Amino acid sequence: MKYDVADLSLAAGGKKRILWADNDMPVLAAIRGRFAKSKPLKGMNVSACLHVTAETANLARTLKAGGANVALCASNPLSTQDDVAASLVKDFKIATFSICGENRATYYKHINAAIDHKPVITLDDGADLVNELHTRRKKDAHRIIAGMEETTTGVIRLRALANEGKLKFPVIAVNDAATKQLFDNRYGTGQSTVDGIIRATDFLMAGKKVVVAGYGWCGRGLAMRARGMGAIVIVTEIDAIKALEAAMDGFEVMPMAKAAKVGELFVTLTGNKSVIRAEHFRVMKDRAVVANSGHFNVEIDIPALKRLSKKVIRNVRNYVDEYVLRNNKRIYLLAEGRLINLAAAEGHPASVMDMSFATQALQAEYVVKKRGKLSVAVHDVPMEIEWQVSRFKLKSMSIGIDKLTAEQVAYLASSGEGT
Ligand code: ADE
Repeated sequence: MKYDVADLSLAAGGKKRILWADNDMPVLAAIRGRFAKSKPLKGMNVSACLHVTAETANLARTLKAGGANVALCASNPLSTQDDVAASLVKDFKIATFSICGENRATYYKHINAAIDHKPVITLDDGADLVNELHTRRKKDAHRIIAGMEETTTGVIRLRALANEGKLKFPVIAVNDAATKQLFDNRYGTGQSTVDGIIRATDFLMAGKKVVVAGYGWCGRGLAMRARGMGAIVIVTEIDAIKALEAAMDGFEVMPMAKAAKVGELFVTLTGNKSVIRAEHFRVMKDRAVVANSGHFNVEIDIPALKRLSKKVIRNVRNYVDEYVLRNNKRIYLLAEGRLINLAAAEGHPASVMDMSFATQALQAEYVVKKRGKLSVAVHDVPMEIEWQVSRFKLKSMSIGIDKLTAEQVAYLASSGEGT
């Protein structure tokens, strides 16, 4: 088995983390049990470009239990948990190519190793693997039954590819599933972003002016959690409906140009680029903290920050770089603008990844069943999978819900009954 990880001697610690996370992933564990018997992915090569975390390890184990030959590479150079990567190789015999802190060349070498695995199914978090199959490795695209995409940024890229008429195989927007967005994006990002910022800075949230750029599910989650910890939350948006929603949720809403002057902590969660740029850095307060929790490190215009600075002091604390502007104000950039929740913390808790990765596993089974029948387009996760994951999760939480009575079923189906 081929692999490239930092240090195999870390495996014992990684295994403990994988099994600890598994305790909080009952839906995925139940699917793994079923997959082990029915082998829906028997003999299939599956390549996954995901954050290499304990939770992802449990997804990889599930796909393997279903009969797949799995290769795993990182979807971000800073998010790999090296002990988990070691355990995946040593204890779970999963071909893993990822090293925390890998440079760009190694990052792409690892993605290419995952493509050399000759996958028929791909899983992506950010669409770098699928993008490689549409650019430098086009010749390898013909084998793919379907690809699954885990994150908002990746779905945006895939829709752009489809709109340009360049998409080469069906892809499933797992990110857009309710079982993903409402929970992973909202509660996962909300909590893990706060976690990453606090681990990096040890700052108190109470009383802090926190600017949340983007009021999608991730932004909503962060705004809610920051407010819960006593922060004064300001939201910036480009979408009128979301801006209105934020205002009626009780947040201050204003353009970034105005927020930049008053904010003490800024977090981008937009899926777009240069959301915080030169004109904003120039007017920020001394010691403003800037972090990103969107997928790519382009949401903060770091080259502009560098241009405005007379001095950069790396690692004034782990994950914190100090930029001293020519006007002598200091700006602290966290985790080099890479997603703070995975760089400085451990990503979303297992309990919420349980739902996302259960959806991924069931989706893998589904695309095999539908092999050759899915159109080359961006597809939604079928509702039957969403219901299945939700029902399982409720059961694992010992929560019961009501059933429609026969009378209610008839009422909902008829247009005749009014006042
Ligand atoms: N994305 C966000 N949190 C994650 C986690 N814990 N594992 C994998 N992908 C993630």
